[in-house]
Amino acid sequence: MSVRIVLGTQWGDEGKGKAIDTFAGDYDYVARYNGGNNAGHTIVNEYGIFKIHLTPSGVFYPNVTCLVGGGVVMDPAVMLDEMKSLVDAGIVLKDRLLISPRSHVIMPYHKVLDGLYEDAKGKGATGTTRRGIGPTFADKVSYNGIRWGDFADSEIFASRLKMQLTLKNKIIIALGGSALAFDAIYDEYMGYYEELKPYIRELFPIVHDGLKNGKNFLLEQAMGTCLDTDWGTYPFVTGSTTIASAATTGLGIPPQAIDEVVGIAKAYTTRVGGGPLPTEIFDDEFAIETLSEVAATTGRIRRGGWFDVEVVRFASMISGINQIFLTKLDILSAFDEIKICTGYELDGKSVHYYDLDSYQLGRVTPIYETLPGWRVDIRDIREYADLPPEAQAYVERVEELVGVKVGWVTNGPEREAIIPR
Ligand code: GDP
Ligand code: IMO
Ligand code: MG
Repeated sequence: MSVRIVLGTQWGDEGKGKAIDTFAGDYDYVARYNGGNNAGHTIVNEYGIFKIHLTPSGVFYPNVTCLVGGGVVMDPAVMLDEMKSLVDAGIVLKDRLLISPRSHVIMPYHKVLDGLYEDAKGKGATGTTRRGIGPTFADKVSYNGIRWGDFADSEIFASRLKMQLTLKNKIIIALGGSALAFDAIYDEYMGYYEELKPYIRELFPIVHDGLKNGKNFLLEQAMGTCLDTDWGTYPFVTGSTTIASAATTGLGIPPQAIDEVVGIAKAYTTRVGGGPLPTEIFDDEFAIETLSEVAATTGRIRRGGWFDVEVVRFASMISGINQIFLTKLDILSAFDEIKICTGYELDGKSVHYYDLDSYQLGRVTPIYETLPGWRVDIRDIREYADLPPEAQAYVERVEELVGVKVGWVTNGPEREAIIPR
């Protein structure tokens, strides 16, 4: 039996989907258990290019059973759309995709409230994906949520929905929105439930029988460490836990069962939405253009910056990361010189990520070390020894500064573009 967690060490979009798709062939179960359809995990393999929001990225291997744990919040329309696109690509989901009845359902008022809160905050907005994530997690912890389990008895669902609409419509109207009607939502969501019912099953005995019987679990976390509700750059964070402990509550496994934590780190840094990004580049058009990306969920532009050792070292400490999976090294081939942020200064003092709130983090001066670039295309390389010496030196300097072994380097979006160390 082995249990490996794969998690993001930065602000999300590190390449977790690709890592899971690469590893999953060796596992019996691949599970998602935090976040919701704010996630966008890109997978490029023989089936095509997919941007997956809810289905575990192990779905492309027929031997893998995919679990969506109770820690996930789910927009059923997104789930069903995604299932359809997978089935259309020839993937079998029946008996291979299982959804926890504890999973909270994103309701129409959650999406409306997400947008109204963001609009009300104006310049101070979080820059959410507007998928209703924060309001759904807020309802979960204030005992106002609706879970898939509630749909099994239509009267329970109806009474919970009625109660919530009474509350939510008052807030929506106060914020200038229009009230939502019970009947249309009831019918729409009961329709979703009927379609998803064959996939909804309590996962606890499946997970614990698996652990007892030596099955292998690959745990796919969503988002990244700096978006964690508690340890991220609050209030510019997401509504769920994104550090390794998410697996215990989100899937129901004991901490002792976890054998290994792999931290996915981009060879530089990106962030989408509001909040501080200490190494963000503002003054170099070429670097901005090269490092910024289009977000998988919202299509917004991800802001780009240099690799930040403070952030990845913090992520490694808080989640007990055993190995780093360093992605997108090929993108750095464009530069004559590459910077690494080795620490921060604030008001003349040396400070760490964990000393600072997000407003202070927005004011730090990053301390940079500059390494020579390699300026050759590395996308076809499959052996570490074949990488240019400057690229090897970059990887090894990252490893030394973070203090964790880099176990894999990736050099392209495709499944095979990976260099094990
Ligand atoms: P996730 O949310 O962590 O799964 O990451 P995303 O899918 O949101 O963003 C990562 C992006 O980088 C996607 O477009 C991937 O296809 C792409 N990607 C992953 N690894 C590599 C790599 O090594 N090189 C390049 N060029 N692209 C990569
Ligand atoms: P993956 O799993 C990058 C960011 C949003 C926003 C903040 C709060 O693909 O790495 P939310 O909609 O969650 O309330 O938005 O969190 N965010 C992500 N950024 N990758 C993600 O997921 C993200 N999920 C949420 O941009 O700044
Ligand atoms: Mg993503």
